[in-house]
Amino acid sequence: MAIIGIMDSGMGGLSVFREIRKALPSEHYIYYADNAHCPYGEKSPEYIRARLRAITDFFISRGAVAVVLACNTATAAAIESLRKEYDIPFVGMEPAVKPAALDTKTGVIGVLATAGTLKGSKYLNTKGRFEDHVKIVERVGRGFVELVEAGKLTGPEAEEVVKPALEPLLAEGCDRIVLGCTHYPFLLETLRKVAAELGHGDVEFIDPAPAVAKRLVQVLEGRKKGNDRGETELYASGDDAKLKEFYASL
Ligand code: DGL
Repeated sequence: MAIIGIMDSGMGGLSVFREIRKALPSEHYIYYADNAHCPYGEKSPEYIRARLRAITDFFISRGAVAVVLACNTATAAAIESLRKEYDIPFVGMEPAVKPAALDTKTGVIGVLATAGTLKGSKYLNTKGRFEDHVKIVERVGRGFVELVEAGKLTGPEAEEVVKPALEPLLAEGCDRIVLGCTHYPFLLETLRKVAAELGHGDVEFIDPAPAVAKRLVQVLEGRKKGNDRGETELYASGDDAKLKEFYASL
């Protein structure tokens, strides 16, 4: 039985976990929401690396054989150093710039992410590979993470928060928008509604979660597969009742 640790600053990583569970239904999962320290988006890379060391030590103490950073901001800040410091595989988030760039008809793609992700070398390198071919417009999803943590996924308040980030991307002509933060897919219904109201109902939002699940399948190839039950343990550094409630609603 493979025990797999999956972490995020909060509920966002559950958007990745639901894809992982579809791809690998029989493994044993430990999901850790670092919600006492959420949001990560504006925190320093050093701070995030220290949190990730503590979380990785926790996973290893529980027998994890692989760790998924279901958080773009944590991946940007910490995955390289974790790979040097620990002897287990780490799977991180990739901003889905490539599929968006290959698929765009207007030649303009949008990226919604946290400030930390947009400043990270991983994203900047990916962007560098594509910006000769397509125009890339970025926006920080200000307030998006807080909405999701509060469970406010739809309704007038959610619409008001997403509009200022989404509107300029649409005005620039983006027809593909990459969701570069794992919290954002939970706002998909609201993003689609606001886009339609702005006259851009045909815009496509790209969630990299299925690609990350695929990557984990490859990483675990050859290992002993899980028992038939598939089991999930939920931990939170802060409010764990909120995590359990959100998980139950998946
Ligand atoms: N869900 C995270 C990400 O993918 C973290 C967001 C945050 O805590 O600011 O970036």
